[in-house]
Amino acid sequence: MAKGDRVRYACTECGAVSPVWTGRCPTCGEWGTLEREAPTTGGESPRSAGSVKSVSVTDVPAQERISSGFEELDRVLGGGWVPGGVFLLGGQPGIGKSTLLLQTCGRMADRGIQVLYVSGEESESQVALRARRLGAGSENLRLFCDSDLALALAALDGCGFLVVDSVQAMRAPEESGWPGTPSQVRGVAQTCIEAAKSRSIPTVLVGHITKEGRIAGPMLLEHMVDGVLSFSGEDYSQYRTLRVNKNRFGSTEELGIFEMAEDGLHPVKDVSGLYWNKGGATVPGVAMTVALEGSLSLVAELQALAVGTAFPYPKRTARGVDVSKVQLFSAVLEKRCGVGCGLFDIYMNVAGGLMLREPSADLALCAAIASAVRDVPLPGDCVFLGEVGLAGEVRPVVRLSRRLQEASRLGFKRAVISSRESLQKQLPLEIVQAASLKEGLKAVME
Ligand code: TYD
Ligand code: MG
Repeated sequence: MAKGDRVRYACTECGAVSPVWTGRCPTCGEWGTLEREAPTTGGESPRSAGSVKSVSVTDVPAQERISSGFEELDRVLGGGWVPGGVFLLGGQPGIGKSTLLLQTCGRMADRGIQVLYVSGEESESQVALRARRLGAGSENLRLFCDSDLALALAALDGCGFLVVDSVQAMRAPEESGWPGTPSQVRGVAQTCIEAAKSRSIPTVLVGHITKEGRIAGPMLLEHMVDGVLSFSGEDYSQYRTLRVNKNRFGSTEELGIFEMAEDGLHPVKDVSGLYWNKGGATVPGVAMTVALEGSLSLVAELQALAVGTAFPYPKRTARGVDVSKVQLFSAVLEKRCGVGCGLFDIYMNVAGGLMLREPSADLALCAAIASAVRDVPLPGDCVFLGEVGLAGEVRPVVRLSRRLQEASRLGFKRAVISSRESLQKQLPLEIVQAASLKEGLKAVME
């Protein structure tokens, strides 16, 4: 028997293949996900070696990008949609996925592109009402509100952009089961991807996410598409962040920030304003740094509060930075700079809900803690840019000149950086170069 003739069972969750059926997938541990796969050798004859051709890179035409109408979204995508490229947009219910896509559809339709918005969740009157409210009233914007995917794709003729809202609400005709089950979700995604690729239509599939923040459905889903976008935000805040977790057409570094208003989503232009209380009173424990998010640079405000501890083990809590960093740098400050952190509970926060992961924020973190413990405010016109090591040394950071430019643009006058940075250009900022944390703190606190 040829290899392809054998019956195989594939897991709809993780894609693992097994020669026998089992109730539970031995690879991912999910129950009831193994499905029989049809033998691969049917009418197809193997291609002869002579018919196989490879192409030169220069013979493949470059694909043009199609603007989404939002500069922010284009930047996150790496320059706009790509013909035939399929993106999955995930996010919590009510975060604004449908709003963002409807606005995008409206802006593209206004430029003369035929757009098909398929909704398996809302009725035509609901979507049309919302579209009008969002200023997406062009006749090029076509709606299809039903969960039957085959009918939806039959309406695709002449379209230049497709949105399927959502992949869990649609029903793929050739799959069994209820919409939203792993095999249905995979079937819907596969059918949409085939339609998008064969007609070169940029496509967005909306995906609901699970409690853990993963897109609901089989894990394979994220491998099948060209890119995965995630739209998120805090419950109490009107700000939303758009990130790209996978992108076959560009970088995954970029970030877009939007504000949800009465009339839909608006891009936020002055991003630094969100995370920085712009020269308020100089309070002990506040230090500023410049963080990079893709091509965005933004000022971040680190706030530390130190209060005498009543416990044998002082407490450390942190929001916006890893708490282990607060523990580590408290120890470094104690040992290398004589800052008595051991007597204080330390609470750390990054203003505006920003998450700082870069080591370049270490110096600002240390300065904030030292300032809080000593109860001495830091100068309000100063930024801190450096990585701090266990020996208390200050190390260089990546893309320093970009960060200094942003700081100077926003009116900062001084920057404390590593003495190992080599500065080529003259900047309108007073530079304090420090070899060690102790030296850096001395320059701004004494
Ligand atoms: P929606 O796009 O339906 O979210 P999703 O598709 O991710 O589930 O957004 C719903 C929320 O957005 C809803 O709670 C109300 C709010 N919203 C506004 O504040 N302004 C608007 O103009 C619109 C359309 C929605
Ligand atoms: Mg929705």
